[in-house]
Amino acid sequence: MLEPKVAVITGASAGLGKATARTLLGMGWRVIGVGRDPTRCDATQGELAKAGDFTLLRGDLSLLRETRRIAQEIAALTPRIDALLANAGGVRDQMVISDEGHEATFAANHLAHFLLVRELMPRLAGGRVVSVSSNAHEYASGMNWDDFNFATNFSTGAAYCQAKLANILFTRELARRASAEGTIAHAMHPGIVDSNFASHGDEGFQARMAQTKPMALTPEAAAETLVWLATAQEPARSNGGYWHLMKAIEPSAAAQDDAAAARLWAESERLIAAILPA
Ligand SMILES: NC(=O)c1ccc[n+]([C@@H]2O[C@H](COP(=O)([O-])OP(=O)(O)OC[C@H]3O[C@@H](n4cnc5c(N)ncnc54)[C@H](OP(=O)(O)O)[C@@H]3O)[C@@H](O)[C@H]2O)c1
Repeated sequence: MLEPKVAVITGASAGLGKATARTLLGMGWRVIGVGRDPTRCDATQGELAKAGDFTLLRGDLSLLRETRRIAQEIAALTPRIDALLANAGGVRDQMVISDEGHEATFAANHLAHFLLVRELMPRLAGGRVVSVSSNAHEYASGMNWDDFNFATNFSTGAAYCQAKLANILFTRELARRASAEGTIAHAMHPGIVDSNFASHGDEGFQARMAQTKPMALTPEAAAETLVWLATAQEPARSNGGYWHLMKAIEPSAAAQDDAAAARLWAESERLIAAILPA
């Protein structure tokens, strides 16, 4: 009998990630999810375990030490990963600096996925990494190289837009580095999704998102493109792309800057080395 395909999905306790997990389980995949909120994790574990081979790991991805522990737990569960869906994240309602010194939006949306992929790279040979970015990346004219935390002039929006730009730059550099091993890396914009996304932002953000609710996709509809990027043949014919509704689209000029992509990789290595033992 053929071994089932294996997906790792961060942010599988809610929204887009949970809907993606459900669909892949229905296709016979084994899914290893990562979630954070205990109540949502308990509910999701109970619900999705009925749909197939589902394991939900728990931790706060805004912390590198927790992310490494999760990477080790994933590594102990599977020698091969067919698709890693770097989906967890979102916007915050205020500035939060962790005891590791990183702003939580940058850390959870970008640094955690950088570390997870780096630690699991041997298992990803021939597999796919799909990073859930956003068209919000278009509002970031570039990375805030001297101050990723926005210690000066913090705004929740600027932090989120930078983090989503980082998702695309990471994807480009990953595609360049890992294509020799047959690994495919793409980023995507899911559209506006009716999930818990807005509830993590401040009041102004929640009010703006409430206005978009009538045109929002359900998590299940948004998951179609993420599942397609993980499973269909067409996305494997290219590498390092940016997709929306199953179509390759052009990200901002800042997101196509290959020198910035290489620099972000080096800076991320440096930030991790300052916190975690090699
Ligand atoms: N919704 C939209 O309109 C929209 C638009 C563009 C892009 N996106 C992107 O789509 C992705 C999925 O968001 P969603 O809409 O599905 O929102 P959601 O319903 O809030 O789901 C976000 C998921 O990420 C997890 N997560 C967030 N921060 C985490 C952390 N520090 N550690 C561990 N897990 C964490 C959440 O875990 P818990 O719930 O367990 O805390 C949850 O499972 C995000 O990257 C978001 O930026 C969303």
